[in-house]
Amino acid sequence: MSQTKIYPSLLAADFSKLAEEIAAIEMASADGLHLDVMDGQFVPNISFGAPVIKKLKKHTKLEFDCHLMVQEPDPLFEGFKEAGADRITVHQEACTHLHRSLQRIKSLGLKAGVSINPATSLSAIENVLEDVDLILIMSVNPGFGGQSLIPSAIQKLRDLHTGLQKAGLRDQISLQVDGGITPETCAQVIEAGADILVAGTAVFGQKDYSQAIASLRKA
Ligand code: DX5
Ligand code: ZN
Repeated sequence: MSQTKIYPSLLAADFSKLAEEIAAIEMASADGLHLDVMDGQFVPNISFGAPVIKKLKKHTKLEFDCHLMVQEPDPLFEGFKEAGADRITVHQEACTHLHRSLQRIKSLGLKAGVSINPATSLSAIENVLEDVDLILIMSVNPGFGGQSLIPSAIQKLRDLHTGLQKAGLRDQISLQVDGGITPETCAQVIEAGADILVAGTAVFGQKDYSQAIASLRKA
């Protein structure tokens, strides 16, 4: 796999000037943009949805990586495609028919990801490995930015990385980690096999976004 990618999470940006914030992280050489969609049901917060994403798409060429923290998200997929989503990641815990949800995302021509919470075991997704482009290991309980990384996520990531290698699937699935990524924690998750690091506070919480991304890369 190539070099680890950094996807800033827009959740930690200044919501009063989103277009400027996105332009700034694009300038700071972010590899993609992570968009946290929260429904107030699967997670306690409500963030933003497809209409906001559609407006932002015009302001950047960055890949739009949409993380749906939404209970039963299938009815939203088409709207996200229209809004310019490149990838839709759903939660295993939020989809009654996970396989069908992933097929629906792919049938729209989008990349499909599946995410699991810190308390969910890898076995919960073992039957959909052939159906995803990306697996998102949550390293915090979803719903809020600025939390500390839960250490058990690192071993889970390592197990997944080696399991996929053994199954010959490693090259077709990207491994993403989300939550509590800092210059201090990111070396461990990279070592455990992460391809894409999602970072909210560690990028948008800093004054200089270029320096913030560079210090994650350096670690
Ligand atoms: C949590 C979100 C994350 C969050 C990460 O529910 O999925 O993407 O914004 O924020 P930090 O990097 O601050 O932990
Ligand atoms: Zn996220």
